[in-house]
Formats: sequence, structure tokens, C-alpha cells
Amino acid sequence: MNQLVKPQAYPTTDQCIDGVVRFEHTQPWIYQFDNPYLHGVYAPTTLELSESGLSVEGEIPADLDGAYFRNGPNPQFQPKNRYHPFDGDGMVHAVYFRDGTASYRNRYVQTVALIDERQAGQSVSPGVMGPFDYSVSEFGIKDTSNTDLFCYAGGLMTLWYNAGHPYKLDPQTLETTGYFELEGRSHRRLSAHSKVDWATGEFLFFDYGDEPPYMTYGVADAAGKRIHEVAIDLPGPRLPHDIGFTSNYTILHDLPFFHDLKVLRRHHLRVLTFYRDMPTRFGLIPRYGQSHEVKWFECEPCYILHVSNCWEEGEWVVMDGCRSTNPMPSANGGEGELAHMLAYMRLEANNYRWRFNMRTGEVREGDIDDLNTEFNKTNPIFHGVQSRFAYHQRIPLLEEGGHTLRFTGLVKYDNETGQRKQWDYGKGVFGSEAVFAPRKGATRDNPEDDGYVITMTTDSNTWQSYCLVFDATDIPAGPIAKVALPQRVPFGFHANWSPGTQVFGC
Ligand SMILES: [Fe+2]
Repeated sequence: MNQLVKPQAYPTTDQCIDGVVRFEHTQPWIYQFDNPYLHGVYAPTTLELSESGLSVEGEIPADLDGAYFRNGPNPQFQPKNRYHPFDGDGMVHAVYFRDGTASYRNRYVQTVALIDERQAGQSVSPGVMGPFDYSVSEFGIKDTSNTDLFCYAGGLMTLWYNAGHPYKLDPQTLETTGYFELEGRSHRRLSAHSKVDWATGEFLFFDYGDEPPYMTYGVADAAGKRIHEVAIDLPGPRLPHDIGFTSNYTILHDLPFFHDLKVLRRHHLRVLTFYRDMPTRFGLIPRYGQSHEVKWFECEPCYILHVSNCWEEGEWVVMDGCRSTNPMPSANGGEGELAHMLAYMRLEANNYRWRFNMRTGEVREGDIDDLNTEFNKTNPIFHGVQSRFAYHQRIPLLEEGGHTLRFTGLVKYDNETGQRKQWDYGKGVFGSEAVFAPRKGATRDNPEDDGYVITMTTDSNTWQSYCLVFDATDIPAGPIAKVALPQRVPFGFHANWSPGTQVFGC
């Protein structure tokens, strides 16, 4: 039975997400904390379920074959320090589509950190708000594997945003089988948003850290064997989040939003600064290039979380993505000790295009649109080659009531024209990252938007969660199938689509 708690008991949560709700299947310790990222749509679930034959409004297309996987934070134990949503233990939710039916499963990622904590019966690792403790792990904080996920070389890889250790899950059972080892690699660190090139099956990976080399970049073959890896020369430790790739180049990010290593060493706290006068740099390296072959381009200062797609046009390389000119919005005075964390989580970003001339070094850049959106995805068949459509999440700004990171609508962009089409999830309904699922058997000969867009929503009016399937050619028409999920799915980070050949092995 869900019941509202007196709002004055949780002033920050009340201000940000309209109060605290008592859930049956959540961790009871969350009610000791006035932190909006532990309540409402963010409240962790305690259930790990498997259910097939889910009920559907509308019709699941017969040529939708594969799985929607979504990762996200789902903390099991009461945190040792202030809770940040980056600290929640990774949990994967999956919806499997085959022959017009849908099934659901969710499981924790069994990380080394979570296993240690289950043995201890309590939190062991500190979280990103510190203080860091390097006696617990080499990261100083908990590697939760809660950020990204995708199928590669027979497994479902889960990754942490902070270049942690990748984990391997069975795509069907979601059981964690251990670390995801790349054969021939001397170390394990790997960043979220390392990417599989669907055209070749290759895995383009990167990592970063506080010790030189501050970044490495590499390629593994479709079978999971490292075939290339080089050190990337950066001026110091950085916190990039993504890479882009074309058929021939990989685009590496050196962004002017990073931490002071001296402060981290001395105070065990990672304090981020946005250096507004420092250019953003993009390093274009041939896919199998050496360290000295990186060609750096300087651009207007900004931070970037997610790239939509990149491609080559003659001597130009084009990169579409979401750009933030204000990665650390001002803290809101009424939000107490969590004010800085809440501000940092308020994503201010918009659809943007960069163009790099490989012959002359010229850069051209500018807005595609100014609407506040992020968690942008495109058709993976067209990754690396020219594309025009991208699917973003609408994120309300603070002045629009967006105190926390929540997705209120699905936006389809035509990046050639800048035009957008939109579907709002509805009042009190919040989405997940949406993926593009190509129609079964589609190739680059099919139209780019020939397929489906899939997301998960949770309705805070009823606490029912759904998986929505849209016809990608007509987003404003709303979902063509609305699959009822057997439990409340908490807010999460990244999702990906894997075709049936990767999920079901055929
Ligand atoms: Fe991300």
C-alpha cells in the first residue's frame, strides 16, 4: 500500500519531487533520508523478477525481435555518506520481444563491491561525494557498474561511468558471470560508452584515470580479443564521458570540466571545475592509429555527455551530440546540503553539430536546436555513416520544475532540418532512455527510421511501469504497444537495443 508521508519530514524531497511515497517493495532505510534521489521514481526496488506473457495494450509488431536492456542505480544498503545517484548498485531491467510477445526480467549486477557488502551486511565503499578511500578499491569509491550496457561477443556488458571494471551478464538470464575480460588486454579498466560498431562487430573502447597515461584507446575484434590499444596524450586527468566513431576515425574528447588532482590527493574529495576559458578539444584518431596520429581540434568550451552519431563527408568529419555550456548549474539555496549534487544532476544541454576538416584543421560548430534534451540515441545500423534522425529525452529545466533529472517526453530530431517531433509521456509519467530497434532483418538499404523506438515509463500517479513501443516514423501518434511491467521500475541511466541474434543466439 502506497501512502504519503507528512511533507514537512522531507523538505528537500518535497520541494524537488512533491513528497515521499511509502512503497512495499523498497529498502526501508530510504525513509531515513531526505534525498529526492532515494524516493518516488528513484526509490530502489527489492524485487528481482522474471515474467513472460506480459499484457499489452495495442500490438507488438511481429518483426520486433530482440531485447531492450536498461541499467540504473538501485542501492541495496544504506550509504556510508551522502547518497548520489551515481552510487546505486547497478540493476538491469530487460524486456524481451519475440513473435509478438514480451517478457521481463531484472537482476542486480553482481559486482565485487556488492558481493563484499552483502558479506559485510552493510555499505563498505564510499560514494562519489567522498571522502574517497583507496583502501577499499583502486577507485576509492564504489564501482557500481550502473551506467551503460550493451551486447558484445556473446555477453551483456555493464559499465560504470567512471571507467571501472566491466562485468559480463548472460543476456537471457541476466546472471553475472564475472568480469568482462578482453583477451590480450593488460588491464581491466573500461569506460561507459565504449562502443560496438554494428557494421564490423568491432568494439571501440577507451578508459581514463588519475595516473598517466590519462587515457587509452583501443579496438577489440568481434570475438572479444584486443587487436589494438594506444596511450592518448592528455595534459592531465580528465573526465570524458563518450567517444564517437566514423567508418575510419574515432573521436576522443578532452573536455574542460575536470577535477584538481591535488585536492583529491589531499582531501580525498573530487571537486569538479568548469574552465570556461579553456577550449574543448576533440582528438580524431584513425581506427587503428598510433598515439602520434591523433589530430586535435579546438572548439568552444563546453561539456558533452553523449554523442548521437559521427560520419565522414569528403574531407570533413561530422559529429552530432548534446552539448552543455553549463555543466555545473548554480546551487539552489533552498536545497540544503544536497544543493550542489542536485545542481550537478540538472542537465542543461541541447542538440548540436560539430564539423572538423581533416585537411585544413577548420572547425565549424553550432546549435541544431535549443530545446533542453539529452540521452540521445540513433539507429545503430547507421553508426559511423551519415544519418539524420536522433531520439532524445526532454528534460525540464529548473524554471520548468525540473529539480531532479527526469525525462518527460520523447523527441525525434531531423538533424538535417533541425525540426523535431515529440510525444509527452503525460503528467507525472517519467521515461527512460529510448533506443532505436531496427525492424528485424533491416540493413543500411532500409530507410534510417524503419523500425521502432522503445522506452520504459513509470507513472507516479499509479506506480505502474510500462514498456512503450513507438513506430519510429510517427512518434506523435504515441505508442503502438504499451506493455505492462510486473513491477515499478525505478529511474535509470542508459539503455540499449540488442537484436535477437545477440540475445537469443539465433
Ligand atoms: Fe552516459
